[in-house]
Amino acid sequence: MLHHSRASRVVGCPEMNRMVSLVWPAMLFVLAMASRAEAPPPLTAGPSAAEQEFIARHWRRPIPPQGPPPARFSPIERSLQPEACGACHPVQFSDWQGSIHAHSMGPGIAGQLVDLVKTDPLSARSCATCHAPIAEQRPELLEGGRWVANPDFDPALQARGVVCASCHVREHQRFGPPRRDGSTASRAPRASLPHNGLTRTTAFLRSEFCASCHQFAPDGPTLAGKPLENTYEEWRGSPAARRGLQCQSCHMPDRRHVWRGIHDADMVRSGLDIVLRAAQPRYRQGDIARATLTIATPRVGHAFPTYVTPAVLVRLELIDSDGRAVPDSLEERLIGRQVPLDLSREIADTRIPPGGRFRLDYARRLPASGLRLRVTVTVLPDEFYTRFFEAMLSAGAGGGDDQIRLALEATRRSAYTLYEKELALS
Ligand code: HEC
Ligand code: HEC
Ligand code: HEC
Ligand code: HEC
Ligand code: HEC
Repeated sequence: MLHHSRASRVVGCPEMNRMVSLVWPAMLFVLAMASRAEAPPPLTAGPSAAEQEFIARHWRRPIPPQGPPPARFSPIERSLQPEACGACHPVQFSDWQGSIHAHSMGPGIAGQLVDLVKTDPLSARSCATCHAPIAEQRPELLEGGRWVANPDFDPALQARGVVCASCHVREHQRFGPPRRDGSTASRAPRASLPHNGLTRTTAFLRSEFCASCHQFAPDGPTLAGKPLENTYEEWRGSPAARRGLQCQSCHMPDRRHVWRGIHDADMVRSGLDIVLRAAQPRYRQGDIARATLTIATPRVGHAFPTYVTPAVLVRLELIDSDGRAVPDSLEERLIGRQVPLDLSREIADTRIPPGGRFRLDYARRLPASGLRLRVTVTVLPDEFYTRFFEAMLSAGAGGGDDQIRLALEATRRSAYTLYEKELALS
């Protein structure tokens, strides 16, 4: 979350929150399940009491230090470095390396932290909750209400962001999903397996597993009555959730660790149906030409886009046979949750809600013949950050200046054309 630091500057990102605690749904269902055996409820229903309890414990903040590793662990089993896991789990490692989770301590955040740790250490510490969450990634630990130096701090690990151990390791024990056949029991005595085997739980298959970093608590920052980050709640009310699709179904297909989202054009295209239709096949000069653009999001599990940071720009205009734009023919719309840099209010929320659609009816008298309607949909995944980093640099980003410059360039590079079509009208 961007929030107001004591210097009354805005820092962070709109997704930050100090503590996330979710209000669990479907308690009645849970009570009904409790009398049955251990079988978890279907994915179309909320998580079981056991799954909720696991998730609450697994994602308690701050995540406690791992402590001493079991004596029989070899150096590679002791290591929390992603490369160590990658030695035995190469597929997940190579996926993760290309993912946004592996880059969550990039220059955009690191550049802010340079000065923030001095001017506002409390805010600086809170960023790690989601961007580098395990204790070994923190220079300090909270002990008895006081911050003390962390003897196990590993700066190299801190730079790696949301590492494997964030999701899979607590107190040097491994946790993971059931096998693909659904089984959870160990096939050999655990002490005979690398890293003493693992505890398998269906909690890994649930959206609630992702919510602690992708949803604000009900008492967190809101704008226009909606949490600033609301992905999990949007999902909960979505057609996708009713069909039993979880965050993992779409963002970790076949258990791949890729987490593609708004920054990936193919991922975004895979979620949308974009249709452009003229009301009739041909028009003559002087006619009013009519066309309709619709964007539906049947394979997106939340609002499109879910965050306040991206913007999607829709443009329709007439062009002549030389590709020149016809004056006064442009219609432009912005799809997004628009906020000013200080997050003081919501300017507009034109996102496409789950199950909803965007529709634009275009009508123009044709001043000539041989005209076409050109439609483009452009995605600016980091539109908010472009403005934010520009403002930071013009105010002086201090010690983080170079990194913020890099981050700003990256926000500009991330824009892409999602859809482009020319429709002959006459
Ligand atoms: C509740 C979890 C959470 C907390 C806490 C949090 N962030 Fe983020 N942050 C996210 C998520 C999720 C995204 C990706 C969505 C987006 O780009 O808006 C993100 C994106 C960002 C980005 C843009 C991507 C990049 O790497 O350049 C920056 C910069 C950032 N955060 C900085 C911060 C800072 C600084 C803090 C602390 C003041 C902070 N965040 C706290 C969850 C969090
Ligand atoms: C020396 C090799 C080795 C290293 C290093 C290692 N693992 Fe494993 N891991 C294994 C083996 C072997 C299994 C299969 C155990 C079983 O079937 O019970 C396994 C199983 C797993 C599973 C469950 C896989 C499945 O198929 O369901 C997860 C998750 C996991 N490891 C995570 C990690 C993480 C995270 C790290 C790094 C912190 C790590 N492992 C380091 C060898 C290793
Ligand atoms: C420990 C906190 C944490 C957890 C748990 C977590 N994420 Fe993230 N996620 C982040 C942060 C931080 C970012 C943004 C990183 C950045 O841009 O700097 C992010 C980014 C993403 C993105 C990329 C969005 C884009 O802009 O393209 C997707 C998709 C995503 N997460 C999905 C998931 C899913 C699915 C799960 C559950 C399996 C999950 N995340 C669990 C912290 C987390
Ligand atoms: C943001 C959380 C997150 C991070 C980071 C993460 N994983 Fe996972 N991992 C999961 C989830 C969730 C699943 C289960 C996905 C599913 O079943 O759809 C999983 C599944 C696995 C499995 C079982 C795969 C299978 O085919 O059965 C292995 C092995 C594994 N992870 C290893 C790793 C390694 C190694 C890393 C780091 C390189 C890593 N994970 C990083 C959340 C994470
Ligand atoms: C039915 C498939 C589906 C489900 C379920 C789903 N997503 Fe997505 N998600 C997408 C698609 C497609 C995109 C790309 C379009 C977009 O950005 O909305 C996306 C984008 C994102 C992004 C990029 C940022 C943004 O502003 O859009 C994040 C973060 C994300 N999803 C997190 C999650 C989390 C967390 C959950 C579970 C609570 C989840 N998703 C459930 C399909 C899904």
